[in-house]
Amino acid sequence: MTESLVPHIPGDAPFNPTQRAWLNGFLAGLYSYAPVQPIETQKLRVAVLYGSQTGTAEGLARKLAKQLKSAGIDAILTSLEGYVPATLAAEKHAVFIVSTYGEGEAPDAAQPFFQQLCVEHFPLLGNLSYAVLALGDSHYEHFCQFGKDLDAKLHALGATRFLDRVECDVEIDVPWNAWKTTVEKELSAIAARPAVANAEKTDAPVSVAPSATPSEPAHAATAAPSRDQPFPAAVIEKRALTAPHSSKKTIHLSFAIDASGMQYEAGDACGVIPHNSPALVDTILEMLRFSGNEMVDVPKAGSIPLRQALLDKLAIARLTRSIVSQYASLAQCVRLNALTKPEEQAQLEAYLHGRDLIDLLKECPGAIQTAEQLVKMLPRLTPRLYSISSSPLAHPGQVHTTVSVVRFRAHDRDRGGVCSTLLDDRIEIGDSLPLYIHPNKKFRLPKDPAAPIVMIGPGTGIAPFRGFLHERRAIGATGRNWLFFGERSAATDFLYREELDRMVADGHLTQLDTAFSRDREHKVYVQDRMMQHAKQLWEWMEEGACFYVCGDAFRMAKDVDKTLHAIAEAQGGLSQDDAAVYMQSLKDNHRYQRDVY
Ligand SMILES: Cc1cc2nc3c(=O)[nH]c(=O)nc-3n(C[C@H](O)[C@H](O)[C@H](O)COP(=O)(O)OP(=O)(O)OC[C@H]3O[C@@H](n4cnc5c(N)ncnc54)[C@H](O)[C@@H]3O)c2cc1C
Ligand SMILES: NC(=O)c1ccc[n+]([C@@H]2O[C@H](COP(=O)([O-])OP(=O)(O)OC[C@H]3O[C@@H](n4cnc5c(N)ncnc54)[C@H](OP(=O)(O)O)[C@@H]3O)[C@@H](O)[C@H]2O)c1
Ligand SMILES: Cc1cc2nc3c(=O)[nH]c(=O)nc-3n(C[C@H](O)[C@H](O)[C@H](O)COP(=O)(O)O)c2cc1C
Repeated sequence: MTESLVPHIPGDAPFNPTQRAWLNGFLAGLYSYAPVQPIETQKLRVAVLYGSQTGTAEGLARKLAKQLKSAGIDAILTSLEGYVPATLAAEKHAVFIVSTYGEGEAPDAAQPFFQQLCVEHFPLLGNLSYAVLALGDSHYEHFCQFGKDLDAKLHALGATRFLDRVECDVEIDVPWNAWKTTVEKELSAIAARPAVANAEKTDAPVSVAPSATPSEPAHAATAAPSRDQPFPAAVIEKRALTAPHSSKKTIHLSFAIDASGMQYEAGDACGVIPHNSPALVDTILEMLRFSGNEMVDVPKAGSIPLRQALLDKLAIARLTRSIVSQYASLAQCVRLNALTKPEEQAQLEAYLHGRDLIDLLKECPGAIQTAEQLVKMLPRLTPRLYSISSSPLAHPGQVHTTVSVVRFRAHDRDRGGVCSTLLDDRIEIGDSLPLYIHPNKKFRLPKDPAAPIVMIGPGTGIAPFRGFLHERRAIGATGRNWLFFGERSAATDFLYREELDRMVADGHLTQLDTAFSRDREHKVYVQDRMMQHAKQLWEWMEEGACFYVCGDAFRMAKDVDKTLHAIAEAQGGLSQDDAAVYMQSLKDNHRYQRDVY
């Protein structure tokens, strides 16, 4: 965090978010009348602000700040976590790089900032000139929604865009490179203007046309493996964690990384670069009557045979809005064109569910004439992230993963997830897969080894907690460890049961509570077990325990969050608002962290 320029109410002051935001707004208003301090430097000051959950926006913001500094601009890099929006009232230039989560919401860490910004009577930001880079994924219904909302709110508060908002889908490189180049150009132009002109509002916004700007230079040979230059990690262990007669399959895979120079901490994730099923690729080639040897241009890969592009580079197993609308206009297909109308969003969403490229080609055959048309239509195949389930101290030179295999039947065909079925069906011990570490700085064990921790991780949510437990044993941490685990059935789906039982027996795992949802008539979930232990959980909370949640973002994490609020209300005697403030203070103090997907 950087120092705030205006006086503000500290995060731990006894006010609820609304009161705090109002008071901060009041202080910012007063401050705006204060005499202007003499400017010590001629450099243009720019706040580079990011809202990130898994580090992408943060990484880009760091790169931008570095680039602006090299261009002679005083770029101040700041997370929106704990950032007081009143501070914006004292900034003249800001750039925001933000991702979207949940149902079009801000990343967890940026939510208090946005809530405060949206408080009625927040002072106008008439002196602020800004630009927003919104990160998202168009597979989600609310694409880049937080970036859009933030942009709209800043504009409504009187701030001026010096650049139109740019939205980045999973393929970030081209829009990102074009955007950062334009940001630097615009800010350098502003910096070059006479000081008086700089005090005035900036000109009309500039738009960024994605250009074929070359991507970032490749990493030096000595750099650690990355998403662009992953390490071919050999599989050294593979076993099922579920029983053969289970209704689902979860597998444990260990990779050797000792020769890679890669380092990680308990809580990090790893990225796996998958490839598509050869059977699906061959079906597509056959349907389109291509040999697969046609040479095609793929960004970053250059000119490669079509079959290789479909296997390794392009996403063929899920449909997006963009694929359907491009195909619809190529095919002049009445039904598909109707679906792409703005008022048919819900129908399009239903059409996309469970369908892939093969379904689209069957829907309106004959539209694709050239290999280039096909390649142009398809997004890039993206890496899949897996929470690392090992500790680097307990398993040096290894990365362990816990993978739930995605299989389902839809529209009369058995289908599977690209990466999880690759790992289950076509990767064996001794094979290698490209891998890199995806740091998760927002998901860390407490610095104090004596602090108690509570881990809530149903399903594959258990992965980082296995890593935490091994790490805490390796460092001799004395803090108590409490795990809530849930799955479908105790007999078939109790992941890492023997290991956990041993930890309970020797006292390392202070308490283990399980919820097997399908073992009885009524479903029992981890949050039901938490409610049964509400009094004890509240005592741990008051004794300084850190709370961690990992696993399903869409239902479980929301329900667990509600349960924690309910426990604070019932056991702490807090009102709903005060419980919200209490939970927020846990988050602010890194005592409530989530790794949800
Ligand atoms: C930070 C992070 C950590 C993660 N950690 C883990 C982990 O530890 N373990 C783990 O297993 N996963 C984890 N994941 C999820 C993982 O990255 C992949 O998303 C998951 O393995 C699915 O990838 P896939 O390629 O197999 O499936 P994809 O090819 O991506 O297909 C999945 C898609 O298939 C569709 N689908 C799935 N089921 C159905 C259905 N019944 N009907 C219709 N459509 C359906 C949905 O659109 C779904 O999004 C994590 C994700 C993140 C972001
Ligand atoms: N798109 C989908 O329809 C779908 C379906 C399943 C999983 N997933 C995703 O697949 C990933 C991995 O899943 P997973 O294999 O680790 O297991 P999971 O599907 O998360 O299930 C683990 C356990 O959590 C239970 N559960 C379901 N809803 C819950 C809720 N609201 N609160 C608490 N517990 C709940 C499940 O019960 P029951 O299953 O008996 O209800 C099961 O016992 C997750 O990202 C998940 O979001 C997606
Ligand atoms: C659980 C989850 C939910 C997401 N929800 C959305 C969404 O609603 N809209 C969207 O555009 N992108 C969504 N995304 C995609 C992220 O915004 C995107 O991957 C972004 O690049 C992540 O940036 P970050 O690493 O800085 O958080 C979601 C990603 C995950 C894992």
